[in-house]
Amino acid sequence: MATTILKDGTAVGSDAAFERVDRAAFIPARIWADDENGRPQPINRATEPARWWAAVEQDAPIVTQLDDGATVWPATSMNATSSASEPSLVRGMLDRLDVRPGHRVLEIGTGTGYNTALLCALADEENVTSIEVDPVLADGARASLHAAGYRPTVITGDGAAGHQERAPFDRIIATCAVTAGHIPHAWVAQAAEHGTILSPWGTAFHNGVQVHLTADGRGRAQGRVVDSASFMRLRAQRSPFGHASRLSDLIDSADVATETTSLSPDSVRVGPAAFAVGVQLADVQQSMAHDIDGEGTDELLLYHVPSDSVATVHVTTDAAATGKYRIRQLGPRQLWTEAETAHAWWRNHGEPEHTRFGLTISTTGQEIWLDEPGNVVRTWPADAPTAA
Ligand SMILES: C[S@@+](CC[C@H](N)C(=O)[O-])C[C@H]1O[C@@H](n2cnc3c(N)ncnc32)[C@H](O)[C@@H]1O
Repeated sequence: MATTILKDGTAVGSDAAFERVDRAAFIPARIWADDENGRPQPINRATEPARWWAAVEQDAPIVTQLDDGATVWPATSMNATSSASEPSLVRGMLDRLDVRPGHRVLEIGTGTGYNTALLCALADEENVTSIEVDPVLADGARASLHAAGYRPTVITGDGAAGHQERAPFDRIIATCAVTAGHIPHAWVAQAAEHGTILSPWGTAFHNGVQVHLTADGRGRAQGRVVDSASFMRLRAQRSPFGHASRLSDLIDSADVATETTSLSPDSVRVGPAAFAVGVQLADVQQSMAHDIDGEGTDELLLYHVPSDSVATVHVTTDAAATGKYRIRQLGPRQLWTEAETAHAWWRNHGEPEHTRFGLTISTTGQEIWLDEPGNVVRTWPADAPTAA
């Protein structure tokens, strides 16, 4: 735990900030909490106070918006677009951010305002700026922050642009994820010399990790992948939603030859290889369907929306025992072949964990490297289109 000097001079870890800020004060009365299948279930504080309090006191995210507000409580969907993040994740990020009194702090993704309040407890609230893209959420966060006695600057707008008027910032934290190759350069440009940027970062294939960068104050930042974290994306960078079933139907209705592979789908899609494979297949999405035939067959679907490329791999007990998995590939990109090549790259490089990777961001583009900045694995030019 990082030791932080609170603004009243007490030297404590972020424990103290957590003791001061009551999470319940930032959680709306009507929420969704995930059931055991990860499906958001509606809860109303007025009618089910015990369930509401259990959700608030649990170390789990609480969904506060679905489908950008189009799905109205108590209706539900699988597309959460705002949430109060899991408290242990919030704490881990704040410890990593190491906010000190006097620091000018920028947060992207105000959401409920809970993390903003914690930032106010760690720094001087007049130095805290938070940006929320959704006007309804921004208004709600402002109201909760004021009721709890905090007066940071809450901006309604696109956090990708940062907030030049209050720059430079010593600390920038995003609580929504950026897509690989697309860390907004405004964050780097608005970071003070030696200022740090902490952001969730992910690919369409793998969501995700956190990156911790140090800025030089002249438009360049460099740092490392530090921890795992799965966050919802910056709104403009979201992968297209709902194409899995369309592309699954496309390959099922096509006359596609079946081949076999000895590489287990799980060794590609989860675990330490998944991050590295995702770096190579950054614009490819994946989904896993369970028991597609009533006989226990699971199907991994890899798909690339712009080119309508799709691949399937079937997992059965027989395939797992024999090490022969059935694959089909359709479209201009042979996605399973690409995944195997990426997996081989990962193995040939000593099976690196995600923490061996780092990033360099400059005005000309973004690079991800292995172990040291010269060892570039992949480059995105500054004007690269957003993945997938
Ligand atoms: C995981 S939630 C944030 C949790 C929040 N920090 C809290 O403590 O409640 C992510 C938030 O990022 C917001 N967001 C997404 N894209 C954004 C953007 N371009 N600019 C600002 N906020 C954005 C979403 O609307 C959502 O409220």
